[in-house]
Amino acid sequence: MTPGRRLAATVNGAELSLAGADPSTNALDWLRAQGLTGAKEGCAEGECGACAVMVARPDGGSGTEWTALNACLMPAAALDGQEVVTAEGLGTPERLHPVQREMAVRGGSQCGYCTPGFVCAMAAEYYRDGRTATRDDSAAAGHPHGHACGPNGFELEALSGNLCRCTGYRPIRDAAFALGEPVAYDPFANRRTGPPPAAAATRLEGPTGTYARPAHLGEALDLLAAHPDAVLVAGSTDWGVDVNLRGARAPFVIGIDRLPELRHLVVGDDVVEIGGALSLTEVARGLAGRVPLLDQLFPQFASRLIRNGATVGGNLGTASPIGDLPPALLALEASVVLAGPGGEREVALADYFTGYRRTLRRPDELVRAVRIPVPLSGTTAFHKITKRRFDDISSVAVAFALDVVDGVVRRARIGLGGVAATPIRAYATEAALEGQPWTVSAVRAAAEVLQGEGTPLDDHRASADYRSAVLGGALLRLHGESTVHPAAEAVADRGVQA
Ligand SMILES: Cc1cc2nc3c(=O)[nH]c(=O)nc-3n(C[C@H](O)[C@H](O)[C@H](O)COP(=O)(O)OP(=O)(O)OC[C@H]3O[C@@H](n4cnc5c(N)ncnc54)[C@H](O)[C@@H]3O)c2cc1C
Ligand code: FES
Ligand code: FES
Repeated sequence: MTPGRRLAATVNGAELSLAGADPSTNALDWLRAQGLTGAKEGCAEGECGACAVMVARPDGGSGTEWTALNACLMPAAALDGQEVVTAEGLGTPERLHPVQREMAVRGGSQCGYCTPGFVCAMAAEYYRDGRTATRDDSAAAGHPHGHACGPNGFELEALSGNLCRCTGYRPIRDAAFALGEPVAYDPFANRRTGPPPAAAATRLEGPTGTYARPAHLGEALDLLAAHPDAVLVAGSTDWGVDVNLRGARAPFVIGIDRLPELRHLVVGDDVVEIGGALSLTEVARGLAGRVPLLDQLFPQFASRLIRNGATVGGNLGTASPIGDLPPALLALEASVVLAGPGGEREVALADYFTGYRRTLRRPDELVRAVRIPVPLSGTTAFHKITKRRFDDISSVAVAFALDVVDGVVRRARIGLGGVAATPIRAYATEAALEGQPWTVSAVRAAAEVLQGEGTPLDDHRASADYRSAVLGGALLRLHGESTVHPAAEAVADRGVQA
């Protein structure tokens, strides 16, 4: 970091020093310690949204997007040089922000505990570029969960990470759908046209260790080599939970979420390359539907609040057997680009997972990017079986990518999550499908093979029998959907166009 520069974040327009914060201090605790007690702790694990704040982030072009994030998960140190807006900064009791006014007049708040978080998540959507251009795009077209979109273009899904235990959601939805457009002199709307704050290199030392945000990849790799016990932290949606609920502490944390080398998205003629530090929201926006299988996955992944932080590299970094990206990326035959001190190597994702939460990645490497070969298969689906519609981890996830030509399955790639110690490819089912007609009887036979893939566990999420049954059902469902809605195949057939 620049010598002499003091560590500070701009919060509600005022510069607040980060001196004294520990690397394990989360942004919520730090903000509250500054007297900004609007944001609340409901769960400390990203489930309730009571802690949501707006952070100025890149908008994918040269401007800024107000991005709602869970302050309970973010390290406070990651706010160095950044701009944050809390509910207190949006408006005052005398001069309410339009979001606060609508929430008040439509009865969107009772005890008020959840309200500052709702207001920040709602304000971020209020300021979403192009929101009103999607008005009357009611929703549900093609969306697996039929998320509602208001007449003002407000995507209700923007509030999927916010819980309210007492008001009831209808008045909150009424408030969201009543919002107009920001006025010409709205400072938050106008801030969007300027560049986002740079992700300045930073270093914060505290009693439990050090947080360092390197300026570039080379520096990150040097730090990793010098500190073999360091933890890489990107969106911190996993690490933050470990810190808050499991008491995890690391002597050295390397913040890699803003490394420029990990933040590109390239759609080429033969490959789509996705930077490891892009959030899922950024990937969805950048791909704009050009990888239909991922487009089906994104809305089923956690909540908008979590997706605004959660990165692709972080999802692979956890190596969780129930992570959502691996099954989809396996079906897409993706590879992982690992960067280390000796340069880069590319490994097929199918070879990447070596055991429960173990991978081929060496301790001195990080996931720089993921590569997806194109053209893409024409018939794709992502089925996530969970107990709740939003914000839940998979019991089982199945991703399909099939090429059906003249009624025959020419190529089948199937990724599974939740049925083994690692995400796996369903090789036996792929073989059972290839060369077969895309008919109910052939699909039934292959569905039986699919039911036997993996070694599903009995646990609190689902029984082994249920998991197996779900697998078979998923293939039959895909067949039903693709034959009832052949247009969907035609759209998918177009695949990625640069
Ligand atoms: C409420 C909630 C809901 C969730 N729902 C889902 C869900 O529906 N589906 C799902 O799959 N996950 C879910 N998750 C888990 C989490 O959001 C994802 O795993 C996310 O992708 C992690 O990304 P991150 O950037 O936040 O990772 P971080 O928390 O920053 O890091 C996670 C791990 O990955 C490592 N890591 C990070 N980046 C890299 C990199 N570039 N290279 C190598 N290692 C790296 C870190 O060292 C760390 O060990 C949920 C989490 C929460 C809190
Ligand atoms: S306190 Fe519940 S999501 Fe942060
Ligand atoms: S108003 Fe009480 S929890 Fe939402």
